[in-house]
Amino acid sequence: MRVIALNGSARGKKGVTWKLMDSLLKGLVEGGAIVKDFQLNEMNISYCRACLTCMHKTPGQCAQRDDMDQIYPVLKESDLFVMGTPVYTDSMSAQMKTVTDRCICGMEPFLRVDSANRVRHPYSWAMPSKFFLVSTSGFPEMENFQPLIMTFRAQASNFGCESIGEISIPGSIALQMAPQLLEPRLEMIQRAGKMLALHGKADPTLLEEISKPIVSVTQYLEIAAKYEAWARKSRGQTT
Ligand SMILES: Cc1cc2nc3c(=O)[nH]c(=O)nc-3n(C[C@H](O)[C@H](O)[C@H](O)COP(=O)(O)O)c2cc1C
Repeated sequence: MRVIALNGSARGKKGVTWKLMDSLLKGLVEGGAIVKDFQLNEMNISYCRACLTCMHKTPGQCAQRDDMDQIYPVLKESDLFVMGTPVYTDSMSAQMKTVTDRCICGMEPFLRVDSANRVRHPYSWAMPSKFFLVSTSGFPEMENFQPLIMTFRAQASNFGCESIGEISIPGSIALQMAPQLLEPRLEMIQRAGKMLALHGKADPTLLEEISKPIVSVTQYLEIAAKYEAWARKSRGQTT
């Protein structure tokens, strides 16, 4: 199995998103997958300009030359797309959204009824057949992932791909203040990654166990108080 993993966190490898992704990717490699990861925060990728040159003049090829040129060939040869993104304003990060917009260059200008009975564009090249989401949110409730998960599943479906699972762990503010709390979950994520590589899917019960709050809202608020104290100090406030 070949895997492309995109980290859409603006903090790159310093963020919680990468901690989760890194464990998944370690498991995938353990299971024999060939993994290529990209840190979008280090890349120069422009917005889609909607020029539609890709549809009307150079089928399948975007008119813009930037760091998407590193991503396109790996997307085309991969079986699994690991989308790593924090929840930003109730959705994926702008970095990740920009990449998915730029993937419309794989679509033809024609309109057809697809297997789910919806009108969609056919493709001049195929995205990886399987999509997997890895995410974290600053706030502690699972509801924070709902809009992102809906968008992720819709995107997988629009690209004619199968969404095969999501890992979403909320409350990153507390998890950054007390990183040891995350450790047991990272081990479980690694196991899920190995399963993905070996069987093409992860046990849904394991994914459910992983995607749960690590701390209660009360514990979260207690831990987050340290963050609040730090934030006040850095603004020069004493109380
Ligand atoms: C621009 C921006 C928007 C955010 N919006 C939300 C949000 O809507 N809901 C939420 O729970 N957390 C939100 N957060 C918090 C991030 O999800 C959280 O800090 C996460 O840990 C960031 O990922 P990272 O650790 O990989 O950098 C936002 C953070 C930023 C920078």
